[in-house]
Amino acid sequence: MAYTFEDIKTVGVIGAGLMGAGIAQVLMTSGYDVILNDMNADALSRARSSIGDRIDRLAEKGRITSKAAAAAKGRLKISADLSTLADAQLVIEAIIERLDIKQKLFTDLESIVGAQTILASNTSSLSIASIAKACENRGRVVGMHFFNPVPLMKLVEVIGGASTDQAVIDTTIALSDAMGKVPVLAKDGPGFIVNLGGRAYYTEALHIESEGVAAPEQIDRIMKMAAGFRMGPFELMDLTGMDVNFPVSRLIFEGYQSDPRLRTTAGHGYMVEAGLLGRKSGQGFYDYAEDGPKPPSPMPSPPVAGPVTALPVVLPEATDRFAGLVEKGLVAGTDDGKMPILVSPNGEDCTGVVARLGLDPKRTVAVDLSALALGVVTIMTAPGGSDVLEDVAAWLGKAGLHVEVIRDSPGFVAPRIIAMIVNLCCEMAQIGVGSPEDLGKAMTLGLNYPFNPLDHGDLLGAGRVLETMDALQDTTGSDRYRPSLWLKRRARLGLSLSADD
Ligand code: NAI
Repeated sequence: MAYTFEDIKTVGVIGAGLMGAGIAQVLMTSGYDVILNDMNADALSRARSSIGDRIDRLAEKGRITSKAAAAAKGRLKISADLSTLADAQLVIEAIIERLDIKQKLFTDLESIVGAQTILASNTSSLSIASIAKACENRGRVVGMHFFNPVPLMKLVEVIGGASTDQAVIDTTIALSDAMGKVPVLAKDGPGFIVNLGGRAYYTEALHIESEGVAAPEQIDRIMKMAAGFRMGPFELMDLTGMDVNFPVSRLIFEGYQSDPRLRTTAGHGYMVEAGLLGRKSGQGFYDYAEDGPKPPSPMPSPPVAGPVTALPVVLPEATDRFAGLVEKGLVAGTDDGKMPILVSPNGEDCTGVVARLGLDPKRTVAVDLSALALGVVTIMTAPGGSDVLEDVAAWLGKAGLHVEVIRDSPGFVAPRIIAMIVNLCCEMAQIGVGSPEDLGKAMTLGLNYPFNPLDHGDLLGAGRVLETMDALQDTTGSDRYRPSLWLKRRARLGLSLSADD
């Protein structure tokens, strides 16, 4: 039997780098004695002083008393000798991300620690089952995945491998709670919850860019202005570094048996080959070389000045969709052979609507009205040139809207990426990567998404998201866009996307 939560007084942390030092700090301020181990003595002394500095700063800011800070600092022991971990009831490993090295460490630990000691790994990409493989007692091996920076990021993914004992999972969850974190239970699989769930945002943006729909800067701007993301997908990739996000994307794609939903683009890999790693190399999707990093996305252009006159247009489909624009002076008229024809497709491209309704491609403009309340519209036309695009864009600008003109895309930019995020989260619920509740917590706390994807899908309407996905799949002919069974069933039954089986 492994130690229970109440037994845990001393925690061993192996690896005194970025993550290990953060984990040690939070344990210390939560009242645990910590034995911090690293093979590198310099790393240990650096970690001791950085942890001490950060705890002092917490006291300066009044977050903890100076007495509590002194007590917390007194709870740290550092040692380059693994045998000092014999006293720990739980050990968290945060060393280099190499399976062979982690496996060896775990088997070495088994000969040092007591029979009841829990062994946790902070791995972000290796399976817990494979780390535990060489251990005598695989039941005590568990995943405890923290996020950087550990003291600030609330989320912890607790991962049970195929053989992990339920009591070990329960203790790990209770310890995470005691550390002031929000634990979620993730299935042992590529990318767990957060790294898997984050793929839709990056990879769909990359696909949209690779199709020539819009440049990275424009996609970033749309996702921030029209969908509320704090950072655009390309800014984020530049921040994490292509040398990190490309291999992680590959690993997750391969781990999920080449599911096309998770496929990234060839261009993503070429960025790594070319050394365009992002901020760390001075150049990624944006240039950071001169005078340090600069804001990648310029402020959007101000609305075009001038009086707003009525714009007569043809609305061949449901006119109520355009009510928000009618309020601003859009007038639905009878076709005179010259007027712009406005459509607002859901998941289709402009070409698809033109073909379906037999419209004049040179006069048809597809308008994304999903962010009208935020003052943002995205418009696109079919290939071959448009006679009315400029007039429509100018009118929308005069009506006080921020206008993004993109090339033809099924689902525009924001609705397409959002549908992919919701669909992926549905699939994760379907295959049990986490419970709907835990998926929501993980996506908002781990990825800083502006919404819980399942709740957001409910807000949009599961039926509407399903329609977007079906149209995306039809238009592209790609299984990348196949709807999750979770989404299909709940849309058909009129259930919430968080409704469990
Ligand atoms: P790091 O490179 O900052 O620190 C690793 C430390 O482990 C170094 O001080 C190194 O000397 C030590 N080390 C390496 N092999 C060792 C061994 N056999 N025995 C004792 N010490 C050893 O790495 P970082 O970023 O702290 O990551 C550590 C682990 O945490 C990796 O498994 C990584 O995948 C995982 N992780 C990292 C995140 C991040 O954002 N950096 C986020 C979540 C997990």
